[in-house]
Amino acid sequence: MSAVDVPVALLGYGTVGSAVDRLLAENAEDIERATGHRLRVVRALVRDEAKERPHAPAEGVLTTDLARIRDDPSIAVVAEVMGGLEPTGNYVRELLGAGKPVVSANKQLVAREGAALFRAASEAGVQLRFEASVCAAIPVIKVLREALVVSNVHRVVGIVNGTTNFILTEMEGGAGYEEALAEAQRLGYAEADPTEDVSGADAAAKMAILATMAFGSRVTLADVGYEGIEGVTGEHVAAARSMDMVVRLVGQATLAGERLDVRVGPALVDRHHPLAAVEGAFNAVMLQGDAIREITLEGPGAGGMETASAVVADMVSVIGTTGTGFLQNDACWRTLERLPPGEARSPFYVSIRVDDVAGVLAQVALRLAGRGVSVARLVQEQSNGAATLHVVTHEAAERDLRSALDEIADLPETRERPTALPVVSDRGVAGLGWA
Ligand SMILES: NC(=O)c1ccc[n+]([C@@H]2O[C@H](COP(=O)([O-])OP(=O)(O)OC[C@H]3O[C@@H](n4cnc5c(N)ncnc54)[C@H](OP(=O)(O)O)[C@@H]3O)[C@@H](O)[C@H]2O)c1
Repeated sequence: MSAVDVPVALLGYGTVGSAVDRLLAENAEDIERATGHRLRVVRALVRDEAKERPHAPAEGVLTTDLARIRDDPSIAVVAEVMGGLEPTGNYVRELLGAGKPVVSANKQLVAREGAALFRAASEAGVQLRFEASVCAAIPVIKVLREALVVSNVHRVVGIVNGTTNFILTEMEGGAGYEEALAEAQRLGYAEADPTEDVSGADAAAKMAILATMAFGSRVTLADVGYEGIEGVTGEHVAAARSMDMVVRLVGQATLAGERLDVRVGPALVDRHHPLAAVEGAFNAVMLQGDAIREITLEGPGAGGMETASAVVADMVSVIGTTGTGFLQNDACWRTLERLPPGEARSPFYVSIRVDDVAGVLAQVALRLAGRGVSVARLVQEQSNGAATLHVVTHEAAERDLRSALDEIADLPETRERPTALPVVSDRGVAGLGWA
């Protein structure tokens, strides 16, 4: 079946807009395979057509005239990636009114003007999607709206602003607030004017959207009590540490009976809580509900490509659910060979019980090295003339490790067959401590 050509348009061709164009072009085959359609950016609204752009669009795509998008009947969906409230809100309403489905990455617009925009979309009978407006690449809106439709979610707790989370993580490492903010700005995590992030306003807008989706009741920015991190000091961070906790900017939306409460502010989080593990510019959202107990989604909450991936996913969803829909049921499009048993690679923990005699360590190390398995960490524990060797290896093929362990099992000094378990760690095995 040949692909259907689907012209689409963008409002804005900045960081996110240009990334959407690139993603659509670079992944055209994947999208076509999944949907049978080929989405192609034919028009992008900007302020200044002549501006130098790092990723220039195709000839003739840029325009400063909204009517060239609104009045073009071939354009099937429009992504609003220009930001701001005005004229953006009017543009989106005009497009919806003209029967164009719209996808938006604009949390302030959705949080403040959602009611009017969704009304306009309903009246026109078109979709308005906004996955990218909350936590960029994390598909939390889709999960709330589609996967958890019958789960009665009554609490949403999240770290939904990467800039403040980065600053607080830096402060945990000993930096002062100003120093941490400067570092965030240097790395591009914070704007030159960081007010919206550090004041909690950005997180509040996202929590308003999440609460609206979770509880099915309109929550606007005015409903969210918020406080930023400007007042967080090194003393707060140290006090939290002494109680085995960390300071995080936490958004909480709670449905208690028929009443809801949505707030954002600095909080102390137990180090064993999933949100304590969210470090740097990452975001995480925990959803609690009757049927699901608890689900945590974590990932990059900002960035041009990350945001663009959510915009593209929404555009594909709009196209895939328009008319009779065409998202293909069977996601399998290729046949892949199976990795032969034993070839999968991992670091391993190995426990070897041996006689406590001179030279045994060298014998063990020799057998491991002979099979190309290198040792990252080794601890020897002695008791009653025997010794247990606790070994963590660098990444190795399971087959090679098993062969080495067979040889070690045959050594006269080995008392029991060695045992091995894979190690899961993303901080490198050499840095692992021993409990
Ligand atoms: N960047 C991120 O990491 C990120 C993450 C999550 C959400 N978002 C959201 O995504 C949206 C876009 O962000 P961005 O970083 O891509 O912004 P950006 O780089 O500043 O790009 C904005 C684009 O919109 C155009 N534009 C702005 N005002 C316009 C107007 N009045 N008329 C016509 N065109 C106009 C600009 O045109 P010119 O090029 O001619 O100036 C530019 O192409 C915002 O709502 C933002 O909150 C961004």
